[in-house]
Amino acid sequence: MEKRTHNCGELRKEDAGKEVVLNGWVDRIRDLGGIKFILLRDRYGFTQVVFDPELDDLYKKALTLSPEYVVSVKGKVVKRPPDAINPKMSTGEIEVHATSLDILSESETPPIYINIDDEASEELRLKFRYLDLRRPKMQKKLILRHKIVQKIREYLNNLDFLEIETPVLTKSTPEGARDFLVPSRIKPGKFYALPQSPQLFKQLLMVAGMDRYYQIAKCYRDEDFRADRQPEFTQVDLEMSFVDEEDIFNVVEGMLNKSIKESVGVELPLEFDRMTYAEAIETYGSDRPDRRYGMELHDVTEIFFSTDFRVISSAIEANGVVKAFKVKGLANRFSRKVIDQYVEFARSLGLGGLIWIKIEDEIKSSILKFCADEIRTTVNSLSAEKGDLILMAVGDRVSTSKALGKIREKIISTELPEAQGLDILWVTEFPMFSFNEEENRIEAEHHPFTMPDLEDMALYKNSDPLKIKSRAYDLVINGFEIGSGSVRIHRRDIQNDVFRLIGLSQEEADKKFGFLLEAFKYGPPPHAGIALGLDRIVAILAGANSIRDVIAFPKTASGSDIMTGAPSEVSQSQLRELKLSLVKGEEEEK
Ligand code: AMO
Repeated sequence: MEKRTHNCGELRKEDAGKEVVLNGWVDRIRDLGGIKFILLRDRYGFTQVVFDPELDDLYKKALTLSPEYVVSVKGKVVKRPPDAINPKMSTGEIEVHATSLDILSESETPPIYINIDDEASEELRLKFRYLDLRRPKMQKKLILRHKIVQKIREYLNNLDFLEIETPVLTKSTPEGARDFLVPSRIKPGKFYALPQSPQLFKQLLMVAGMDRYYQIAKCYRDEDFRADRQPEFTQVDLEMSFVDEEDIFNVVEGMLNKSIKESVGVELPLEFDRMTYAEAIETYGSDRPDRRYGMELHDVTEIFFSTDFRVISSAIEANGVVKAFKVKGLANRFSRKVIDQYVEFARSLGLGGLIWIKIEDEIKSSILKFCADEIRTTVNSLSAEKGDLILMAVGDRVSTSKALGKIREKIISTELPEAQGLDILWVTEFPMFSFNEEENRIEAEHHPFTMPDLEDMALYKNSDPLKIKSRAYDLVINGFEIGSGSVRIHRRDIQNDVFRLIGLSQEEADKKFGFLLEAFKYGPPPHAGIALGLDRIVAILAGANSIRDVIAFPKTASGSDIMTGAPSEVSQSQLRELKLSLVKGEEEEK
């Protein structure tokens, strides 16, 4: 094979006259007045190659080419005449006049077009992922991912972080999703768990005195998949000793500033905004607000203090609130039918209903006849104008805010065009615990190694633990939770209190995390850390709708890999070796 002298994106008019060899895929073939033009493609770009009918044998060989054949072409670089210059191509000022052609491999007609964007179904794209990844659009995304990872490494290495690998065959970690289990052959009946995150290991590395750790870590979680969730995904995981949240914020702000600026040229604020969890719920009804759309929730309870309208007055008497938000210019989109769908949605979220106000030539509202004055005051206090819509609900402060937050998100995703730019912020002071209704117990909101706010702990641990805040923080970009972390507990008394509050006995704690608790007997330093979802960061920067687009070989929504056929059955002998047998009936259910 004649090896390439240049890649397909490299040649410029200054190279005219050179004898070159190009290797690549035949992207498309055109015939103009008997002359054959082929566009040769590789990762770096495209180059036009010309076959002249005067060179008979060579021309005949060129006639046998089809798209996706792999060829080696030798030829001379020639400047294109001015009217043939293609400004859209980096090599658009030249073409290569072929003098020899070597067909390195042939291709059947590919099941998806490489040179037409997004025509094929996602199923077909995943089945033939290697062809999908041949498309420049997809290659760009993986190149972007590579660049971001390299910049992150560069940044952290310069700050003395050590990149350390942690085990993949391990014991269950406390992230709260279901584990993927791997049966042990040597110890029948025992299982490894694939790590949901390197959480416990990175804390042990702090006990080990590593001081600053990071890892581009694969994590595995058996949970319901969505556009932003995969069963295996990648975290930029880090941990630092002798620090508090400010140090973590500093490192992450610097790291994202550098990696995003140097990979996509976008400048982030040097310091990211901060908002407490309570403020985020109050203002956006969500702990991961996308502020680009505005639509803040307002507490308009006071306006309705003296209303006779029972639905509202009884809620206020029961210590409830009236909250409202304005949607600019959408009044005419909210026909009766659309409103009914939103009312239905509101009910499914636990709200008694959804009150609407439309500002058209006159003000219209579902409750105008009950409280006309209050409605007008609400319209004024939200500075609503003709064409705007206001949605309102009443009830308990937090659950009403959260439900309106979901309605706000639905409007954003279904009714509004995608906002531009990056909205990035820290959400801080998360609650330490939440109440798991299904299991009727208190659980750790982040994970049980998160440091609680010690003042809150002293005040509420015996009376109202759900009031205790933690030193956990999330990083949010454009409404997605991009990262999550906390200052950790390094004191045994606090750790024991937390275990007690989540109903974990000393015995159970020892069984689950005994190795960590044991390590903490030997001088654990104060430490803190965070993990960022790499797939989500790259997806946002690449403008992808799903993290599947920025993962080379992702799984489908049902957790399978259509290309390899995983998960698949295994042979009886493999099962025998593992001393496993399948339960009849359940096997068929699936
Ligand atoms: P957490 O569970 O919040 O924290 O995960 C950190 C970040 O990982 C991303 N992420 C996911 N991305 C794709 N698919 C998934 N299934 C998925 N699950 C999570 C999110 C999330 O913010 N050990 C702690 C971190 C720490 O305390 O240091 C942890 O894993 O962007």
